[in-house]
Amino acid sequence: MSTAYEAFQVFEQEATAAIEAARNVADLEQVRILFLGKSKGRLKDLQSELGKATPAERPAIGQAFNEMKLRVTQLFDTRVEVLSRPESQPRDFDVTLPGNLPRLGREHPITQTIEEFKEIIGRFGFTVDDGPELEDEYHNFDALNIPKDHPARDPLDNFYLAAAKTANGQPILLRSQTSTVQIRVMERTRPPVRIVSVGRVYRPDEIDRTHHQMFHQMEGLMVGEGVTMATLKSVLKMFAAAYLGEDVEIRFRPSFFPFTEPSVEVDVRWRDGWLELGGAGMVDPQVLENVGYDPEKITGFAFGLGIARFCMLRHGIDDIRLFYENDLRFLKQF
Ligand code: DAH
Repeated sequence: MSTAYEAFQVFEQEATAAIEAARNVADLEQVRILFLGKSKGRLKDLQSELGKATPAERPAIGQAFNEMKLRVTQLFDTRVEVLSRPESQPRDFDVTLPGNLPRLGREHPITQTIEEFKEIIGRFGFTVDDGPELEDEYHNFDALNIPKDHPARDPLDNFYLAAAKTANGQPILLRSQTSTVQIRVMERTRPPVRIVSVGRVYRPDEIDRTHHQMFHQMEGLMVGEGVTMATLKSVLKMFAAAYLGEDVEIRFRPSFFPFTEPSVEVDVRWRDGWLELGGAGMVDPQVLENVGYDPEKITGFAFGLGIARFCMLRHGIDDIRLFYENDLRFLKQF
């Protein structure tokens, strides 16, 4: 009788040692087959010891066997769980070595400027709106009061799409200005309106230090009762001061745009010179009529500013082409 108990003990010790020695799930599976396997496992041999016991011994031996079996299988199950966790897989590297720092990217300087512009202009109550980069002639020209024979419409001065047409067969072009968004917003909103729209515009210009064929503009539009040129100048002055610093001055020079009357060029004095930032003016009554507003009741101003200009001024960048070359030595500086 003692041989059965001894055999159980030997089995338990060896099985326990083997289970604990297993370093991974595959090892452990070998241990299971050897000790607990249904067909050839050593546990099966032990069961034959039970058969040798006398009827009087049998209940005690059976109980000892079952208890031992339970301890071993529980130990096995726990070990399976531990070895299945990813962190208990063997490590073949030195955990005390310093890690590899991931290289952090950053936003493009133009994107940074856009985000800052939106934040600043938001303080004056302007919300951000958007319009498509592929436009029809109505929104890019007609609704903005640009006459059919205006030089800005010259096909050689615009990127017309060769094949695509609007649903009703009209030509499509890459928008040449963000002023298109003025029209799109007013078409779907009743006054008062106070929005900016920031985005890309396209013109087949000769590329040089200050010109590119794709560039970014911020369009502003404020329409309502009692909106004046003075409001325009205040907003632009505060905006430029917030971005460039309190010591800036804003200057208006008379100009002409078909969609504003009067129209001005906006300059900023910063450090030692005057720099042109864009155009602005009071929204032409014809434009207000085009979108169904009543020019007798309301007035508005609009402005269109070059984004890159501001960014170049602030950071002392002297060539707009640098923004589009994706040279990391340049981009990493911002
Ligand atoms: N759209 C003009 C351009 O691209 C800029 C501009 C001038 C926008 C006057 C305006 C404005 O909103 O009032 O040159």
